Amino acid sequence: MPRGNVLLLVSGGIAAYKACYLTRLLRQAGFAVKVAMTDAAQRFVTPMTFQVLSEHPVASDLWGEGQSRALDHVEYARWAQVAVIAPATANLLAKLAHGIADDICSTLLLAHPGPVIAAPAMNDNMWEHPATQANLAVLRQRGVEIIEPGEGWLACGVESKGRLAEPEQVLAAVERRLAAAATGPDPVRRFWTGRRVTVTAGPTCEAIDAIRYLGNRSTGVMGAALAQQLVALGARVNLIAGPGSAPPPAGLAALERVTSAAEMAAAVSAALDRGCDWLFMAAAVADYTPRRPLTGKLKKETQGDTWTLELVRTPDILCDVVAPRRDGLTVVGFALETDDLLANATAKLAAKKLDWIVANDPTAVGAGFGARPHSVHLLGPAGEIWHNPQPLPKLELAAELLARLAAVSASFGDLA
Ligand code: C5P
Repeated sequence: MPRGNVLLLVSGGIAAYKACYLTRLLRQAGFAVKVAMTDAAQRFVTPMTFQVLSEHPVASDLWGEGQSRALDHVEYARWAQVAVIAPATANLLAKLAHGIADDICSTLLLAHPGPVIAAPAMNDNMWEHPATQANLAVLRQRGVEIIEPGEGWLACGVESKGRLAEPEQVLAAVERRLAAAATGPDPVRRFWTGRRVTVTAGPTCEAIDAIRYLGNRSTGVMGAALAQQLVALGARVNLIAGPGSAPPPAGLAALERVTSAAEMAAAVSAALDRGCDWLFMAAAVADYTPRRPLTGKLKKETQGDTWTLELVRTPDILCDVVAPRRDGLTVVGFALETDDLLANATAKLAAKKLDWIVANDPTAVGAGFGARPHSVHLLGPAGEIWHNPQPLPKLELAAELLARLAAVSASFGDLA
């Protein structure tokens, strides 16, 4: 018995050759695979290659021409428990976003009622194009899991974003989807699956001049851990990461890198515009920024022995951007306090109009920045709901926090 039925849709880009390896990986992992190819994909790899690897005839045109035997194409779509588009071209994504069914792959996608995973690969300008980004937003909204392309060497001769995600990443996404379907989601997974969650992570850096900046000790590990656990629980996660923060997990719906508090404020605002159910504001946003950053490098020779830097407040993202737009949004803030931890965190919860706050003292024994195990307090309007006196690794801590938040947020009986 196969572990599950996968319909692999291969569209036309040089990365089509990697779909051969993906077919092999899926088969080795125990999945049954049927393949459909666009005309352009067949310019790169022949259907025969996929027929041999999948051990099924390849759906290569809508009319059954040129195939060893006629296929009921809609049957391929019904047979599949998950459809995987890899590589997904801008063209096929656009067709799916707009419901166009004018070739074999777009037709199968419309006829497939189950989950869809898409791993885009294209030229970096095509990826950045507002039309492609708008189509991706529509698809994410509908629950299509987009496996972000990686950065690296592109066939068009530039080093940029647009490379097909590694086949192993696509396999992992298929395994997650089908595992959830097979076992029936657990209550915590049921709560988070499909939710649109924005997570901010890491520090922000505020430019003093072209070389220097004001920063802080945040590493972004907590935000990345939350994002990783949320992805694993089936949420659609948009990670907004400050400079130099921990490596982002695979499987994000979107990743935005920002530098300054102002950029992070704009990214959070745009995420709310696109639609968001939960916001985890784990970033350590700078509270002050130099009033007049210099474009060149400041020379110490012109500064003398002392130097007074004039700073102005940055926008408070939670107060200024998020608080006025709380409709349908649950907000979790983070408080880093070295004195009166619980009293200060409780005051912050009210002042910033948060639903929940995660409070921690980075100077306490067993706590700290980076990947070290950590103790936190999870507070709501009625006080503390969870605390781990024993420090936990941040990935485990993230899982615990998500489980507690799901338990207190789900309607009674939902998580019984
Ligand atoms: O006021 P304080 O910086 O201690 O509050 C921490 C919380 O507020 C964190 O969730 C942080 O992400 C958020 N914050 C913000 N905008 C700022 C500073 C902090 O949203 N400018």
